[in-house]
Amino acid sequence: MKLTERVFSGMQPTGSLHLGNYLGAMVQWIEMQKTHECIYCVVDLHAITVWQDPKELKQAIRQVTAAYIASGLDPKTSILFNQSQVAAHAELAWIFNCVARLGWLNRMTQFKEKAGKDREAASVGLYAYPNLMAADILAYRATHVPVGEDQKQHLELARDIAQKFNNDFRAEIEAKGYNDGAFFPQPEPVITGPATRVMSLRDGTKKMSKSDPSDLSRINLTDDADTIARKIQKAKTDPEPLPTEEAGLAARPEADNLIGIYAALAGKTKAAVVAEFGGQQFSGFKKALAEVAVQRLGPIGDEIRRLTADPAEIDRVLADGSARARAIAAPIMDEVKDIVGFIRS
Ligand code: AMP
Ligand code: TRP
Repeated sequence: MKLTERVFSGMQPTGSLHLGNYLGAMVQWIEMQKTHECIYCVVDLHAITVWQDPKELKQAIRQVTAAYIASGLDPKTSILFNQSQVAAHAELAWIFNCVARLGWLNRMTQFKEKAGKDREAASVGLYAYPNLMAADILAYRATHVPVGEDQKQHLELARDIAQKFNNDFRAEIEAKGYNDGAFFPQPEPVITGPATRVMSLRDGTKKMSKSDPSDLSRINLTDDADTIARKIQKAKTDPEPLPTEEAGLAARPEADNLIGIYAALAGKTKAAVVAEFGGQQFSGFKKALAEVAVQRLGPIGDEIRRLTADPAEIDRVLADGSARARAIAAPIMDEVKDIVGFIRS
């Protein structure tokens, strides 16, 4: 990838970040800082698509920002900010509400999952969520979007929106000198983290998630060493010893998940981990897993606690990041408004 490319991604401040966020997205975000201009957002506008207590939301925004920095995002090289401080997101989302079709949104599986049975009671924001996500990315004309596996469908929608906008306004876009008619790029998903789908510790068929009512289902980046060890010790397994070949993980979701987590944390392949622990009982393997997890996550948790002790400093980081984000989005939004046919002064 070339240096002129731009990276955008975000996470919702709806609770503390967990191992799935870290291995599925954050590790890749950190890596991309070395080669790209990166913009990493705390998506507070997305968070309120389901009810958030205002006081807790403020805390969660600061906590996620602290987790970004503690994990290795550098607020000097990358832009770290919260979405609501940059008006371009909401403005472009409205325009995309008028570009995207109902039929496209009706296919979104995340809406179906989150809305549950009582769809009539879901917020309109939850339904339009993917349009806002497309706006997040395209307000910066970002080309690469590092995410976990679960965001693939949303990114396909963002590509469709970019393409429809480019087609609908082809004449205006070409008149501006974009002779290939491509005002918005087709943002590419980068789904290459060390574990792009980390599963719940309580159920190997369910995604590890902030919204799971059981805290035992996930390892939070803020968990201390004892908590991490206890959660791994309590993680669901099956009665068989670990398989001696990777193929033996196929019908064993819990074993597959734990081996996958170990491999991702230790920087090894699953095959190598199976070769090392194959034939052993879970108890010994879980001890080794707890050790690598504590080694890797312990310092991050300590750093989050240190950073959150100074909320004013976090707010300064967000203010600085927001100003830099605005500076990139403003001229793009100016062109968008002109293309659509609005009058600007
Ligand atoms: P969210 O917590 O929904 O805001 O997700 C933030 C990022 O973490 C997105 O890129 C997700 O795809 C990723 N992510 C969330 N949960 C998992 C998981 N269980 N495994 C892998 N990636 C995940
Ligand atoms: N929808 C993403 C999630 O829940 C978060 C998100 C919002 C995002 N806007 C984005 C991710 C833009 C990448 C790019 O995980």
